[in-house]
Amino acid sequence: MNNFQYYNPVRIVFGENQIKQLSELVPTNARVLITYGGGSAQRTGTLDEVKNALSANGERQVFEFGGIEANPEFTTLLKAADMVNEHNIDFLLAVGGGSVIDGSKFVALVSSLTEEDGTVSREQAWDALTSYCRNLDSAIDLGAVLTIPATGSEMNSGGVINYSERQAKLPFGNPLTFPKFSILDPTKTFTLPERQVMNGVADAFVHVMEQYLTYPVNAKVQDGFAESLLKILIEEGAAVKADPENLETRKNLMWTATMALNGLIGTGVPQDWTTHMIGHELTSLHAIDHARTLTIVLPSVMRELKDSKKDKLLQYAHNVWNISSDAAQDDEATIEAAIVHTENFFRELGLPVSLADADLDQSAIDPIIKQLEVHKMVKLGEHGNNDLAVSRRILERALTSPA
Ligand code: NZQ
Ligand code: ZN
Repeated sequence: MNNFQYYNPVRIVFGENQIKQLSELVPTNARVLITYGGGSAQRTGTLDEVKNALSANGERQVFEFGGIEANPEFTTLLKAADMVNEHNIDFLLAVGGGSVIDGSKFVALVSSLTEEDGTVSREQAWDALTSYCRNLDSAIDLGAVLTIPATGSEMNSGGVINYSERQAKLPFGNPLTFPKFSILDPTKTFTLPERQVMNGVADAFVHVMEQYLTYPVNAKVQDGFAESLLKILIEEGAAVKADPENLETRKNLMWTATMALNGLIGTGVPQDWTTHMIGHELTSLHAIDHARTLTIVLPSVMRELKDSKKDKLLQYAHNVWNISSDAAQDDEATIEAAIVHTENFFRELGLPVSLADADLDQSAIDPIIKQLEVHKMVKLGEHGNNDLAVSRRILERALTSPA
């Protein structure tokens, strides 16, 4: 196991009817900006529930900013940042999924980057984003009410921002954006369309894979936790499809998705975010849902990199899919069987596993490679040797599934 520091200060408040805890969690004299997405928080009544809880105790001033898109847009978020300054907001409360929480983290970081006229500088905010927001040293406090289990943003300090005009979807991370708390009420997920539920299962699955599928460093805790999370997602993914009203399944899915990307399984182990980085370009160029880009790319990453990832792929085959290597089946066949299981799992959830499944062909590849270059995604992988040629081969393999 490699050396590491593990730090995660996020208070998790989990369970039914826990939104009322906001009356204790948000400072009683705060000037709060509630941020939300395209309307689901209003339609489902969650926004009213949040406002009632905030008014229950104290003298809070409450403002609202709605309309944060799925794959949150830089230009929209800058309007929210201007609103922060206009109303002297000192607490952001994100009500939604990864897009709203990520977007709010970005607002928390960039709202201090003001011009002389008091508006937030678009250029400074863009420069900050292209440097992963690493060097920003102040942020507004933020809390979250999670409505979709998927990204883990509720318990980590990262985010991803889309800037359509510049054809860029870029990640950032800064410890100042760990939420002060996140409320995880699994009953809030009952209103999700099936597509979003399945996207969430797949996103969490790939988060675990990208912290697991590298090379062994004898990290038994991390590997054991990762394998458990994968098995739970396989089991509960099928369960939620068959019985979407089952609260126990919703609870397990919500906590699993949070655990998949709260830093715990990624400490002290190598990581490989190739699938995510290629996936971001697919979202930015073709508006494919985040999770669906991952299910398109991951099987080809596994096939293309099967030699450098051989030991972990065999471990994955044995421990997650119970595929045994025996005389009748060599390592190559065991690995291919594990990849086919992975693809079938995605297919059963209604997710694409190739570019063809998303109606894309060979002509999609050059522009993706160009964007990876522009975004300096030229040394991906646990060894930093997934260059553009490797990414191209991954995409060529992803044109259609061989299975
Ligand atoms: O916008 P509204 O109307 O709220 O609708 C949303 C949205 O259309 C809807 N929704 C959310 N909760 C609902 C609901 N509909 C009905 N009932 C509810 N309870 O679901 C749609 C998707 O929401 P979104 O927030 O976009 O989904 P998700 O949580 O999957 O977030 C995806 C974003 O997170 C980023 C992705 O790149 C993408 O931009 N990621 C963030 C990460 C992080 N911070 O660590 C890691 C991930 O890898 C990921 O990259
Ligand atoms: Zn993801």
